[in-house]
Amino acid sequence: MKHIIKIFIVASLFIVSLAVFNACKTPEAILNKSGAQLWGENCNRCHNAPDPMTYSDDQWDVATEHMRQKALLTDREITKIREFLKNAN
Ligand code: HEC
Repeated sequence: MKHIIKIFIVASLFIVSLAVFNACKTPEAILNKSGAQLWGENCNRCHNAPDPMTYSDDQWDVATEHMRQKALLTDREITKIREFLKNAN
């Protein structure tokens, strides 16, 4: 009986740790979003998403760093958005 309880506890801990581990992982579909997609989804939350033509590459470097902090985006996300803006201006 003691043995069964032990196995049960170990198995439960294993299942809980799997659930916790998976909950912390960002789903692939989100990680694989393109810069254009991230720009469309994030840069119009507070104001109209700015046209890439509005600024030069250097100006986008400054503006996207500023907006990364405001929009609470990850480095990976803002890098994709920055590349999209610089390729489209
Ligand atoms: C949480 C709200 C919020 C989000 C999300 C947001 N912005 Fe902004 N943005 C602002 C505010 C507020 C200003 C006004 C200027 C300031 O705060 O200095 C601004 C100003 C700007 C400006 C004017 C120049 C400057 O740097 O101040 C640009 C360009 C800009 N945003 C681009 C973007 C881009 C690109 C994104 C997407 C990555 C974005 N914003 C996402 C709030 C936001």
